[in-house]
Amino acid sequence: MRPFLKWAGGKYRLIERIKEKLPPGKRLLEPFAGSCALSLNTDYDSYWLNDINADLINLYKTLQKDGPSFIAFCRTFFKDTNNTPEKFYELRQQFNTEKDIYSKAALFLYLNRHGYNGLCRYNSSGEFNVPFGQYKKPYFPENEMLYFAQKFRDAKFSCMDFQQMMESAGAGDLIYCDPPYVPLNETSNFTTYSTGGFSVVSQKRLAKTAALLASKGITTVISNHYSDFISEIYSTAEIIKFDVQRFISCNGNNRNAVAEVLAVFG
Ligand SMILES: C[S@@+](CC[C@H](N)C(=O)[O-])C[C@H]1O[C@@H](n2cnc3c(N)ncnc32)[C@H](O)[C@@H]1O
Repeated sequence: MRPFLKWAGGKYRLIERIKEKLPPGKRLLEPFAGSCALSLNTDYDSYWLNDINADLINLYKTLQKDGPSFIAFCRTFFKDTNNTPEKFYELRQQFNTEKDIYSKAALFLYLNRHGYNGLCRYNSSGEFNVPFGQYKKPYFPENEMLYFAQKFRDAKFSCMDFQQMMESAGAGDLIYCDPPYVPLNETSNFTTYSTGGFSVVSQKRLAKTAALLASKGITTVISNHYSDFISEIYSTAEIIKFDVQRFISCNGNNRNAVAEVLAVFG
């Protein structure tokens, strides 16, 4: 099943390759859940899904709690009269000042499907600032939302830094990490998913946390681009390398094949 959100770096096309490398476990933890592409297409006893993006987790929690009635409310935003630049910027402004978390969750979905390339980007004041997407008829992902609500009925959702989550893992847990990638060059810098970005220091912190957990018998699998820096910081892991087509890049049409790695710690 496809995720109901468009998400930069979404792993939908790589699911089978990643699943082949996941060892057994009772509970799957995704510290960088994004659109939850992998978890949606696996079959573990339980799930803990985390992301630093508070708007994303608010949407997931609202969908989990209110299911079909929330989906019906979200649908009211998907109409032709809302698919104009004027209305888009009005609703974007409403989202940025919205205090009611239920409305904010529905507006986040509207922005994801009506904004440029499905991007999620904030300015330095934390305001969502993606421009209008000019789609002919934005798709309303009703079936995908129903599936998500059903699949993650009992899942745990949280919004915290990845390290805090990983340090709470215990016996029977398996961790899959899909962090913002190390940029291939300055112009493909997609590391600012949420205010704050993801630095080289964070990449190292992640590798260190995964190595520490491996020493305690907990396996972590991490996705990233292949680079000298990555092979250096993942030196204690088993590295699996493969080529993929990337579809989201800085200008949306620069579709190059790049080497992807899966690093298995533990
Ligand atoms: C490459 S995306 C994950 C994509 C996901 N695998 C999917 O299929 O959609 C990386 C995610 O990491 C989140 N993130 C960035 N920094 C983080 C941090 N310090 N702790 C937890 N999540 C973080 C971003 O908000 C973003 O959703």
